[in-house]
Amino acid sequence: MHQLTDPLIEAAKAVREKAHAPFSGFKVGAALEDENGRIFTGCNVENSTYGLTVCAERVAVFKAISEGAGKLKRVAVVADSETLAPPCGACRQILWEFCGNAELVLSNLSGKRETLSLAEIFPRPFDASFL
Ligand code: THU
Repeated sequence: MHQLTDPLIEAAKAVREKAHAPFSGFKVGAALEDENGRIFTGCNVENSTYGLTVCAERVAVFKAISEGAGKLKRVAVVADSETLAPPCGACRQILWEFCGNAELVLSNLSGKRETLSLAEIFPRPFDASFL
């Protein structure tokens, strides 16, 4: 089925190529769009200790915040898996902190796509409203 090109997905797909994933071989790209239409990207960066690996989503969030992004409205995640890969638990917490209930678009290299909200995959979050 033909779908319109989404620049945010294209950005996530492009940055995925830069992933440093020699251990898992699983490359991920993430892209965030802020309220002004600026796009920030991130790929997963693995480490030989394994545990110090950082996911694409968190790299994108930290780049966006450190570069003065406005309110983050949309998140795209691209991986090469038949079942669309959602953000891991740690990334869901970080995305909630900085994006709130943003629109989340998951995609793969075959063009399969699903749009959902962060709250759908991260119900009942702990956040600053408790503090
Ligand atoms: N990974 C991400 O980048 N994002 C996710 O949400 C899931 C997992 C990365 C981490 C690791 O480099 C590889 O995928 C396999 O877990």
